[in-house]
Amino acid sequence: MMSYPLLDVRVSTPTLELHGATDELLDRLADVVRAGKTHADPAPYDDPMSFYETDPDLRVTKWLRAIWRRRGSVEPDAWRLYFVVVVDGAPVGEQSLTGVNFSTLGTVTTFSWLSSDLRGRGLGREMREAVLHLAFDGLGTKEASSDAFVDNVGSNAISRRLGYEPNGSDWATRRGEPAQLNRWRLSRGDWEARRRDDIQLHNVEACHALLPLS
Ligand SMILES: CC(C)(COP(=O)(O)OP(=O)(O)OC[C@H]1O[C@@H](n2cnc3c(N)ncnc32)[C@H](O)[C@@H]1OP(=O)(O)O)[C@@H](O)C(=O)NCCC(=O)NCCS
Repeated sequence: MMSYPLLDVRVSTPTLELHGATDELLDRLADVVRAGKTHADPAPYDDPMSFYETDPDLRVTKWLRAIWRRRGSVEPDAWRLYFVVVVDGAPVGEQSLTGVNFSTLGTVTTFSWLSSDLRGRGLGREMREAVLHLAFDGLGTKEASSDAFVDNVGSNAISRRLGYEPNGSDWATRRGEPAQLNRWRLSRGDWEARRRDDIQLHNVEACHALLPLS
């Protein structure tokens, strides 16, 4: 067992696994970040974002530092679990789950990216379904949200397909320029109506022991 059991949390589906983002897995995933396979056009990330750094080594450095900072900060109103997406034994992307005022409201938000050479095959949707299973079934989440720039076809399609409802819009900057975001929310009831029975959660007790869930 890991001395930090939150890194042992795992979600498995028929096509992929989410593994707690250990330094060893992050180190392997860094090759994808270094190769620039995090990018998409139009630009999908709001500022500040390490992936907009053009120097590959500095990009990896900034990406790791951002994860370490957030991984080490666990508060009742804000915590974040980072997972590395593993397909056929290879790290191919990142999926995170953020508790936002979870102890009082039970709300979470999600973020992800997938290596550009593997997009468009349903993996992005599978990653989201996996982390939602952890959130709703494993942690008792009441509502999940997701934001995406209006021109992010993939992310918006996944939210729509999984039963999220539109929840207005917001503004953020990407690469310094203002851009509009779609906000989406998925209630517990709407998740339950489509819940899957082929997703397994492993070592979720660590979340109950180590996250301020209530
Ligand atoms: C968002 C992302 C994770 C989606 O992963 P993916 O594996 O490409 O998505 P999927 O194959 O599961 O596709 C999901 C849906 O989006 C649609 N889609 C995905 N990419 C698309 C594209 N470029 N053009 C049109 N439709 C697209 C698919 O048709 C599918 O729709 P459907 O369920 O109605 O058939 C991936 O594109 C990515 O990493 N993008 C860059 C990072 C990013 O945008 N992160 C989210 C920030 S909010």
